[in-house]
Order: sequence, then structure tokens, then C-alpha cells
Amino acid sequence: MSISQIFETMDYGKAPEASEEAFKWIASHNSEFGHFIGGKFTKPGNLFSSINPATMRELAKVSQATEKIVSMAIKSARLAQPGWEAIGGHGRAKILYAIARILQKQSRLFATLETLDNGKPIRESRDIDIPLAQRHFYYHAGMAQLIGKTLRDRKPLGVCGQIIPWNFPLLMLAWKVAPALAMGNTVVLKPAEYTSLTALLFAELCQNAGLPDGVVNIVTGDGRAGELIVSEPNINKIAFTGSTEVGRKIREATAGTGKSLTLELGGKSPFIVFDDADLDSAVEGIVDAIWLNQGQVCCAGSRLLMQEGIAERLIGKIKNRMKKLRVGNPMDKSIDIGAVIDPVQKTRITNLLSENQTGQMFQIEEDLPEKGCYFPPTLITGLETADTLMQEEIFGPVLVATTFRTSEEAAKLANDTRYGLAASVWSENVNLCLGLTPKLKAGVVWVNGTNMFDASASFGGMRESGFGREGGWEGLTAYTKPRDTKLKKSVPIQPNYGSIRGAYSLDRTAKLYVGGKQVRPDSGYSSPVFDAKSQFLSHVPLANRKDIRNAVEAADKAASWSETNGHLRAQILYYMAENISARSEELAKLINKLTGRRNGQKEVEASIDRLFTYAAWADKFDGDIRNVPIRGLALKLNEPVGKIGVICPDDWPLLGLISTLAPGLSMGNRMIMVASEAYPLVATEFYQILDTSDVPKGVVSILTGTHQDLCDTLARHMNIDAIWSFSSKDLSKTIEQGASLNLKRSWVNYGYDRDWLGEAGEGKEFLDAATEIKTVWIPFGEG
Ligand code: NAI
Repeated sequence: MSISQIFETMDYGKAPEASEEAFKWIASHNSEFGHFIGGKFTKPGNLFSSINPATMRELAKVSQATEKIVSMAIKSARLAQPGWEAIGGHGRAKILYAIARILQKQSRLFATLETLDNGKPIRESRDIDIPLAQRHFYYHAGMAQLIGKTLRDRKPLGVCGQIIPWNFPLLMLAWKVAPALAMGNTVVLKPAEYTSLTALLFAELCQNAGLPDGVVNIVTGDGRAGELIVSEPNINKIAFTGSTEVGRKIREATAGTGKSLTLELGGKSPFIVFDDADLDSAVEGIVDAIWLNQGQVCCAGSRLLMQEGIAERLIGKIKNRMKKLRVGNPMDKSIDIGAVIDPVQKTRITNLLSENQTGQMFQIEEDLPEKGCYFPPTLITGLETADTLMQEEIFGPVLVATTFRTSEEAAKLANDTRYGLAASVWSENVNLCLGLTPKLKAGVVWVNGTNMFDASASFGGMRESGFGREGGWEGLTAYTKPRDTKLKKSVPIQPNYGSIRGAYSLDRTAKLYVGGKQVRPDSGYSSPVFDAKSQFLSHVPLANRKDIRNAVEAADKAASWSETNGHLRAQILYYMAENISARSEELAKLINKLTGRRNGQKEVEASIDRLFTYAAWADKFDGDIRNVPIRGLALKLNEPVGKIGVICPDDWPLLGLISTLAPGLSMGNRMIMVASEAYPLVATEFYQILDTSDVPKGVVSILTGTHQDLCDTLARHMNIDAIWSFSSKDLSKTIEQGASLNLKRSWVNYGYDRDWLGEAGEGKEFLDAATEIKTVWIPFGEG
């Protein structure tokens, strides 16, 4: 073709990236891989194929892990852990830095291998996946250096099982491995069955960084190998990224075991465009949001919400832009869209689309390569919010779109899914964007941008997108536990017993406190309460499922509490302290009577102290600004979790109630408190204090009854955002199993006591549990 002909057509030429080095590395292993355990590869066995989805040719054979292999890997990690911890922060920093350098020096090899194995365009693996993975190791080399001085009160968890998906294989490995190692943990990581190769290359090259044997172990295989890791008792944490369905199974399987757990799951993230947005920029944003990595991105902006006035124009622009997207061989440097991961995924996308009966579908007409798993970029307009395609994660290059009129409606539509991972907001009016941001149920919000990531900015979701954060200080802290944990197994505290003869003549019946009112229990049942000398004191109601439902409804009506400012909440907490102080003698006497102890006064004073503490924190538990490499800001905001159910400690009837209620209130949550089962009468006295302290109706409900019965209903309630349990009975299994239904956050004591009078009774742990982190990215500057 002559130069003038090329000028005529302006077609792209071919720009293939060389892949010889990647194939050479595969060949150096005879195209068969064992697991990487204790610093070396095991003999390959139970082999399955790893294919290149762009050509459907086999790249290599990889081993399926058996039970024996998984326990061998865990043993090797366990053996290596004390030594790895003992080399200290600086020792680990040097090795993490060396790993980052290796990733940088071998970046081409990693990028090509990733594209061959995954099908994503080489442009993306070269410019996004690998550089972000390097950045993660550099950042955490710094963390390892600093923690000795900044996180003195924390220590590593031990051995971490890490299960990752196929959409960003090396990057997800970096997100998991770097913080775990920085803190002194060792790991057993399982890559997804479709994309094992870069993890194996990583493990091999880590040896050159001086990483001791057994610190990083890689076992390969499908979900069965993942299940083996999850169920292995000798593991301290599971970190999972993948589908919500599997995340839920893992929550259930780990319930009650005490294994630490973080889940980064699916999403259906809104991409909201207001009528004053820069539409051309928004279109480029949409390309990044939904066509990056063929749309196989957990935080993909897969739901386009357009303000009505610009919808038609925007759709026109998107269609024009779609016509310019180039689908094809991902090893070609000028390709925009490569292959989806596997025929299974292509079929899943195809089926979801063919089952859809509504809306109008637009696809580009470009000829797709004959071989390979290609799916054309697709746009579907005119859908209703309840349609499957508007609700379900498609995990493919499919954008669905609908319209909204006002900012309120945009927020409502944005939140109208079971997920809560990310959101993009587009408007030239930054006021409008920032005004909408707190209303969005999402762990990450990008203002006039999308899919921005950095090791320093935490990433993670809420609702059915999971819990926990990766990146930043909070990502690191998720791989730690308190250093001084002298835990004592709690002994279930039994209520006092006595004779109820003559009790009914006294008609002393406490009530439940729901929606700012004293109410009778739905069950119509109550139980007698005796003092330590078996004297009858009063009846207390036995709350049931319906009472919990009423408390949740009341909390819903009190949603504006979560929008109040810290100063106001502090005033109310101080007021509560004042009112307790005014009744301190009476409360102390009641506590003494119930517990048979003599420290009632001390308990009341400690409760007042605690209210002062959280009144103080109400306007001081600040967010911060993260040092991300963009021109702009990445804010880390601490927002209220929402509605929290609490099973209160039994043995400190007032202090336990206040120590859990006050942090929740101070951070703007609405609280459903289940009082001490053994000594419930103090809580029923306490609601008079709430009444006189200006706590708005519905913000606090106080229920009495058996912890065992109520915890299950609270844990399973689909409209409660978190549940805490400090009961003297071990309810952790029931709670964590129930919580898997809507994947609410849970914080349970696994049947261990806490020193409520001492330092363990208050502090950052409580504030962290009472807040949800939202990372807000705000790029700025003109041109
Ligand atoms: P998946 O959730 O099954 O796989 C993710 C990882 O979990 C893989 O390493 C897999 O081997 C492992 N795994 C599977 N079952 C397991 C179990 N019972 N216990 C422990 N580990 C297990 O995802 P899959 O099937 O590959 O994709 C299905 C759908 O999941 C996709 O269409 C997409 O909607 C969603 N997905 C979401 C991801 C995200 O980043 N949010 C990533 C991958 C998939």
C-alpha cells in the first residue's frame, strides 16, 4: 500500500507486541506448572489447561490443588511466619522494595504474559495493571518501614489465605500480597483458574528479591481449591475478591471460626451525567468506565444515568464513539477491546442479553475475529430500573442506560441496587457533584472521572459489594490485630432467680423503647427480673421479630440523624452524660442490686466518662486527604454505617450499653440496642434519660429479651447495615451466618470478654466499626 493510499483510508496498521519472552518463560517450565510452595515448584499434577482467550489456544497446563497440597502450602506459610515477622519493618521494606523493582524491570514480560492469559489489551496491562501493581509494592515497602513506629499497638494476623479473580490477575495479587507482607504475615494465594500464570511468574521472581521461602505460596486450581483454603482451620484470615455469590458462601463457611475476613465483591456502579457536564469528557469517561478490560471490572460504571435534557445528545455521542472502538487481537497495541476471559463468561453475557425483552440494543458492526472470545461493545437504552440488566452484574462490555430528572432522583436510582461499590458523577458544577456524593451508597466516588486507583486510596464496598478496604492505612490495618490481647473466655452470665409469688400484685412492668416511645412487646410476653438476693424487681418485655421490625422502621424515619453534624451530636452526648449524672445515685444502687457487686457508682462514673469521650470524638474523628498521583484530591471520608444492631454486654448493664451506643451515635448511626440479658432493668431506666436528652425519635431503640433469639433476627434483617455482639454467650456463628444474607458488617466477640472499664472498652476500634470509609476522587484544573 502506498503512502497516499494509507492517507486515503487512515486505517490502523498492525502494531503487535512481541510475546517471545513470555512464551520462552512458559517453555522453560515445559509448559506445565506445579504449585509454588516453600520457595519451589511442586511436581505438576492434576493438570488443566490455561488458554489464551484471544486465540483459544492452550498456553500451558496448570495443577489443580488437592487437600494435601493446600495443607502443605499452609504449613509452609506457618513455618515461615515467625521469621518473616522477626526480620522487622526495615528488613521487610527492603524486600518489598526489591519486589517492586523486579516488577518494574520485568514489566514487559508481566504485561505480555497477562495479556496472553487474560485477553485484555496489551495497552491496559502495560499502562494500568503492571504499573499499579508496582506502585502497590513501592507504597507498602514504605508502610513496612513505618509501621514499627506508627502501628506499635498492632501485630500481624499470621497466615493469610487470599483468593483472587481473573479480571486483574497480577494487580489483585499485589493488592493482597503487599499489605499482608508489609505487616509480617505470610500468604497462601490462589489465583483464578483462568489466569494463574502471572502469579506463578511473580512467585518465581520473588526469590531474586531475597524473599524467604514459604512467605509467599501460590496454589492453583478452581473454586474447589478456594474452598479448601477457606475451610482450613490453621489460617488466620481470608481475603477474597470475586463474585457476591462466592463471597456469601465464604462468609457462611467462616462464620464463628474467628478468621478475619475481607470481601471485595461485585457491583453495578452508576455513572451519573448531569445536563451541565462536559459531554465529550463524559463520553471518554464512559469508554473507560465500561469498556476497560471488556467491562470485566467490579467497579465498572455499567449503569448510565443521564439527566433527561441531554440524554438523546449523549446517547448520540456514545454511539459515534462506539463506532471508533477497535475490537480484536489484544496483543495489538492499538486495540481498545480484547477478548473476554473464557467461553463460559461469553455465554453468560450472551444469555443475560438474550433473556432481556425490554429496551433498545445498539452494537457496533465491526467484524469480530473468528476465533477467540470476543463480544462487541453494547449499549442498551430504555430500560426500567427493575429490569434484570439494570440490577445484575453483567461483567462484560455492556452499558445499560436510563434517565433521571433531578439530583434527588439520581441518588435514588443510583442506590437502587443491592450493591454499593463505586459511582461516577459528572457535572461542571462541582457543588452539585459534592452535594450528591454523601447520598451515594458507594465506597468510592469519582467526580468527573472514573476507574482511578492508587495504593494510598482505599478501595472497597458496602452492602452486597462486601466489606473491608484495600489500600491506604485501613487496607494495612486489615492485616493486623491488637498487640496486647489477653483474652479471657467469657462465662455466660445467668439472670438472677427468685420466686414470683406475689410479683403480679406489684405491676412493675418495664416496656420496650421504640420510635421515641415506651411500647408493649408484640409477643405479649415478659419475664421477671430479680435482684442478686432473689427479690423480685419488675417484669421486662421479651421482644420478638416484630419489635425488631418496628425498631428498624423507626430508625428509617430517623435517617436525618445521619446527616447531622458532629457538633450537634456531641451536644446530645454531653446532655446524656449530664442526665446520667443527675440520676447517678439511683442508677448505681440499681446496678449494685442487680449485679450483687458494689461498684455501681464506679460503673456510672465510667459511663459518664465514656459519653464525654465520644462527645469529644463526634467532631474529631476526621477523614483525611490521600497522596494520590493526580492533579486533584482524593478524600477519605468517615461516614456513618447506617443502622447498627447491638447485642450489649451482660455483665456491665450500663457501661456496656453506653460503650457501644455512644460511638455509634457519635458517628451518626441509628442504633438498635438489645440490653444486657442478665440485668436488663438498667437499660429500661436509661430510656428516660434518652427522652430528656433531646435524642430524636427512632435514633435509639432499646429492646429486652434473650440474646440468642434476637441476634438471629437482627443478623438476618435485610435492612440493617451492621451488627455487633458483646454478649456473654458466644453468638458469633449465628450472627456471622445470618449476616451473610445481605453481607452486613459484623463485629462479634467469639465468646471472649472485654475489659469494659479499661482501655479495651473504648477507642478507635469502636469508631472504625461505627464508620464506613468513602474515598472521593476530585481531579481539578482547566485543560
Ligand atoms: P468467582 O467468584 O467464582 O471466582 C473468583 C475466585 O474465587 C476464583 O479464584 C475462584 O476459583 C474462586 N472460587 C470460586 N468458588 C469458590 C468457593 N466456593 N470458595 C472459595 N473460592 C472460590 O467468579 P467467576 O465464577 O469466575 O465469575 C462469575 C461472576 O462473578 C462474573 O460474571 C462476575 O459477575 C463476578 N465476578 C466479579 C469479580 C469482581 O471483581 N467483583 C471478579 C470475578 C467475577
